Amino acid sequence: MKQRIFSGARPTGRLHLGNYLGALQNWVKLQEEYKCIYCVVDIHALTTLEDTGSIQSNIYEMTLDWLAAGINPDKSIIFVQSHVPEVMQLHTLLSMVTPLSWLLRVPTFKDKVKLQPHNVNYGLVGYPVLQTADIVLYKANAVPVGEDQLPHIELAREIVRRFNNIFGDTFPEPEAKLTSFPLVVGLDGKDKMSKSIGNDIEIALSNEETKKRVMTAVTDPARQYRTDPGHPEICNVYQLHRYFNPGKIAEIAQECRSAEIGCVACKKLLAQEINTTLKEFRERRAILAAKPEYIKNILSEGAQRAQIIARETLAEVKQKMGLK
Ligand code: TRP
Ligand code: SF4
Repeated sequence: MKQRIFSGARPTGRLHLGNYLGALQNWVKLQEEYKCIYCVVDIHALTTLEDTGSIQSNIYEMTLDWLAAGINPDKSIIFVQSHVPEVMQLHTLLSMVTPLSWLLRVPTFKDKVKLQPHNVNYGLVGYPVLQTADIVLYKANAVPVGEDQLPHIELAREIVRRFNNIFGDTFPEPEAKLTSFPLVVGLDGKDKMSKSIGNDIEIALSNEETKKRVMTAVTDPARQYRTDPGHPEICNVYQLHRYFNPGKIAEIAQECRSAEIGCVACKKLLAQEINTTLKEFRERRAILAAKPEYIKNILSEGAQRAQIIARETLAEVKQKMGLK
């Protein structure tokens, strides 16, 4: 039997190069070896109550990016979290075996308390319990995530151990499957590429828009003048060249250090390479975007397939917990 993979992403809308290089390409590859379930976690999006009016369009745009990138609905289950409401029941049931002290020490929770002190709601504390419910509802063996999610997966494992201990073997302990991809730095050259910071390049941009975004990148501050030698290893443009222009990487480093190439030319070259790499993705995306009904169908079929598994697990849990 192939092992089962589950992963989720909040509906943030169109994805950027960081999402693409970090998570999405890995998700696509995992389909060859595993049975994969990929979920747009719209309920999790509510824990921060940011702009709930865009949830539907964000789901749509992100699904388009997933499909165009090669997430294959014939191989994998793709669905929206709230379309399989069993997860909310499992969340409540798992909350009974989750000590509050475990949740209060989760780093992402502590960050959020600092970030939104005016909105420290009950749902926010329970965020990792809902995430655990996502994973174990499908008895997933492994969860591809970035490093920031490790505390959540560790907590999921603790909840699983506790549940299995009290009620008998029910769930496999899910394992984090770290993406080997290093963090992609944003256009500001400081922070991780992120939509909320606004230092990102969306993968669905046109060639011209991509070039415009790339031209705004902050480069090595030592290069005040065209003749100043640069330090490619600290430059985010160079980092992106590594992924999009691997064949020329040594040459660019050398030309930057000797000031043979200027940052403007270097960025133009990068934009070209990004556009070439994403050409097919963008073509596929445009075709899919013209078929909104098709996208809807994929998500509703995905939810139906997911729900079959979900109902079975939930019935088992209820029976073990004495509700049946
Ligand atoms: N918390 C994850 C994030 O912010 C999203 C998520 C929700 C998730 N449920 C999940 C990831 C289950 C993996 C598995 O990225
Ligand atoms: Fe960065 Fe390229 Fe400028 Fe060197 S030449 S600092 S690698 S943008």
